[in-house]
Amino acid sequence: MNVTVRGRTQHYRTVAFDRARNAVLLIEQRLLPHEFKIVATKNFHETAGAIHDMIVRGAPAIAATAAYGLAQGALAFRGRDQRKFSWHIEIVYQTLKAARPTAVDPVNAMNGVRAVMRTGKTVAEQQSLALAAAEEFASEDVRHCEEIGRHGARLIRSGMKILTHCNAGWLACVDIGTATGPMYAAQAQGKKFHIFCDETRPRSQGATLTAWELAQQKVSHQVIADNAAGHLMQRGEIDLVIVGSDRTLGRTGEVANKIGTYTKAVLAKRHGIPFYVAIPLSTIDWNLKRGFDIPIEERHESEVLGAWGVESSPKSNSAIARAGVQSTKSAKRIYVRVANPASGARNPGFDVTPPELITGIITPVGIFKPKELWPQRRKLGFTI
Ligand code: MRU
Repeated sequence: MNVTVRGRTQHYRTVAFDRARNAVLLIEQRLLPHEFKIVATKNFHETAGAIHDMIVRGAPAIAATAAYGLAQGALAFRGRDQRKFSWHIEIVYQTLKAARPTAVDPVNAMNGVRAVMRTGKTVAEQQSLALAAAEEFASEDVRHCEEIGRHGARLIRSGMKILTHCNAGWLACVDIGTATGPMYAAQAQGKKFHIFCDETRPRSQGATLTAWELAQQKVSHQVIADNAAGHLMQRGEIDLVIVGSDRTLGRTGEVANKIGTYTKAVLAKRHGIPFYVAIPLSTIDWNLKRGFDIPIEERHESEVLGAWGVESSPKSNSAIARAGVQSTKSAKRIYVRVANPASGARNPGFDVTPPELITGIITPVGIFKPKELWPQRRKLGFTI
């Protein structure tokens, strides 16, 4: 998407590859919305570290990063010995896979890259096939988000108030976004609507990333505290919910997404509000038979016990907003402890929403009921 920083507008993908430097290029998402910076990971260990440390996050974005990381690891190999090369690729694959456990997209993306590599005869051939396959995965993700936008835009009418959770925008993908795809498509059709971004504690991806994206794209929006959604629903102030997913089970229609998604789905059901999940095909796990088996990432307790931000006062915040500044450089990032110093915390990063709470799943192929994924698996590109 286009990013305007200090008056200059430029198009960026969230994840890209620099062949000359054999480096993966990433937007440093931990600094947003306060600073816009691109970082380059020099080897596959650094690329796995960037996924693990959440420099890049969001299921499709970490999938593209892992695909490029696999190509980066392949290209770094010196020699022609096929057996040694295969060993090396296995290490690269396992290192990238272990970086974050819940999203299935990185595994699907890397399996795709490896399948293409197998068609090459020599090490050199497999190296260039790896990069071509990673580039194709990234471009396919963009196409998928465009299609999700095309199908999902019809759910949005002018005047609607829409809730989204976490960030399933272009920063979470290669471009455009899954949950934001329908929003940007509806905006392009001239529709006027308003987005409520759940703050999404503990890491605040809604308050920092989704709000920044929507401001950049001039979409009307406000950040709400996670606990405010029920109240707004009760008062008729939310018409539609659209979220993303880190793993959607093709066999059952269960959806893993950022912690708090399940709560919002329960509330939406209680208030008769349509609840949609937007996913590219890489988010579908056709193997797992029950949501309980989805590996749920447990993150460090410090995220719950405190918060990261920049030094600022409520007064200077409104001054920044009035001046229309979207991104400023190098405000000092600090961690503040909020919770009682003697207390510990639990920090599950994701939860699983059952199919009966989901109105529909917006895919690049069309909108399906969660239980329709399995019977429609061929249409969705799954061959068994
Ligand atoms: O922990 P994060 O920030 O990687 O979690 C991201 C989400 O939960 C997104 O909703 C999900 O990855 C879908 S992104 C299109």
